Amino acid sequence: MGIVLDKDMDESRQGEAISMDNKEGGKKLYLESYGCAMNFSDSEVVASILINQGFSTTQESAEADVILINTCSIRENAEQRIRNRLKQFNRAKKQRPGLVIGILGCMAERLKTNLLEEEKLVDLVAGPDSYRDLPGLIEEVDGGQKAVNVLLSRDETYADISPVRLDKNGVTGFVSITRGCDNMCSFCVVPFTRGRERSRDPHTIVQECGALFNAGYREVTLLGQNVDSYRWNMTSKGEIKDETKPTTNFAQLLEMVAAVHPKLRIRFSTSHPKDMTDDVLHAIAKHDNICNYIHLPVQSGNSDVLKKMNRGYTREWYMNRIEAINRIIPECGISTDIITGFCGETEEQHQDTLSIMREVKYDAAYMYKYSERPKTLAERKYEDDIPEEVKQKRLEQIIELQHTHSLAINKEQIGKVLEVLAETESKRSSDRLMGRTDRNHKVIFDRKNANVGDYVMVRITDCTHASLSGEIVED
Ligand code: SAH
Ligand code: SF4
Ligand code: F3S
Repeated sequence: MGIVLDKDMDESRQGEAISMDNKEGGKKLYLESYGCAMNFSDSEVVASILINQGFSTTQESAEADVILINTCSIRENAEQRIRNRLKQFNRAKKQRPGLVIGILGCMAERLKTNLLEEEKLVDLVAGPDSYRDLPGLIEEVDGGQKAVNVLLSRDETYADISPVRLDKNGVTGFVSITRGCDNMCSFCVVPFTRGRERSRDPHTIVQECGALFNAGYREVTLLGQNVDSYRWNMTSKGEIKDETKPTTNFAQLLEMVAAVHPKLRIRFSTSHPKDMTDDVLHAIAKHDNICNYIHLPVQSGNSDVLKKMNRGYTREWYMNRIEAINRIIPECGISTDIITGFCGETEEQHQDTLSIMREVKYDAAYMYKYSERPKTLAERKYEDDIPEEVKQKRLEQIIELQHTHSLAINKEQIGKVLEVLAETESKRSSDRLMGRTDRNHKVIFDRKNANVGDYVMVRITDCTHASLSGEIVED
């Protein structure tokens, strides 16, 4: 994704080689990342740890001494893609016997030594909480051994590590605020691959955001599997841990980050419908630089399916949260994630998903067919019994409906003059820039005198379901 945030936890940004210019010398590291924003953010931590140990980075796997792939397990096809990539690298290794191939991230954690011992695809396996150990693990492999660290931690947040920014634009950056997840949605592998939820010291978060602003960044996205459960100096029951120190919840953290600089935009992902409080919505409404955009995954529009998914809310509760957003933050963009074809989902229940989409009218949605994951509650308890062609048909209906909603919302923007933060040059021409509105709509426009990193006012003149286009308005 390099690292443009199209969404929070999405595997659509697949396998981008990420590197930065740094001085020659030392071993050459090639690092490829799959999966969600959290993984890309982790890759920046990994790069930082290894560069501090004298590694340099390269964009060319052919010239690397060490190849690391940061991986995702969220759906079966995500893992299959990574396996194929590992096989490619192993073919290259036949000509370069000294080459170290390692796997990081969620698939490393899930499969542990399997890829090493049974499939013989890697020399090194490092789970998400073991990156500080990477220099030692690489050394072990150089010494002729295989190396593994898949221990999960209750307190690792890499809070003290300044990530090496690997994004290409230098304008939008990720900042992790929590790691792990305690929710146990029945379909989801993340609690197994990322371990228990823990929050990061708020002062290190504010410091990192300040450093990003000073380095020219104009937008940060605060990352967590469930940002609303961020808590510092509090137990999960809300009890204060250390009476002599202040506590911080997510709404308070948002306000702290908003105070870094009025020209630093703040986004966050992912919000959880069961935990998103009105306090968070009031914080968004109060600060101009906290973007009016919320990614609120619904997964299904049917309360019985939601119960089986162990999501912790009903359709009515979810709609109550949508009403609160619309009341407290008028004109707020809302996007979602939807899983279709979950165990036992009836045609009627599928219709409920379509009807909640019509009720909410999302700006955007990430839509998936259910993919059974080993060890999850759903795998143990329910049968994955919806035939592939039914899943496919339902997915197509969901996608088609979403496109009509996205297009209708985008059409409503035509004629408006909106503030856009220019993020990159457009893929097709350097004369055009791509940026985003506060509400997270992508806008393409002729650059005139504007540069990447500028805020510009753009009159919207046209759109597709995926983006807006317009002209800069001179003032
Ligand atoms: N923590 C976030 C999202 C994590 S994963 C949240 O709670 O919303 C991102 C999305 O992948 C999920 O929202 C869900 O829609 C989808 N997903 C997760 N597990 C899946 C599975 N087994 N099959 C299909 N989609 C899945
Ligand atoms: Fe998975 Fe649910 Fe946690 Fe999201 S909240 S990461 S879907 S278990
Ligand atoms: Fe992210 Fe995939 Fe892991 S979505 S948390 S990289 S399973």
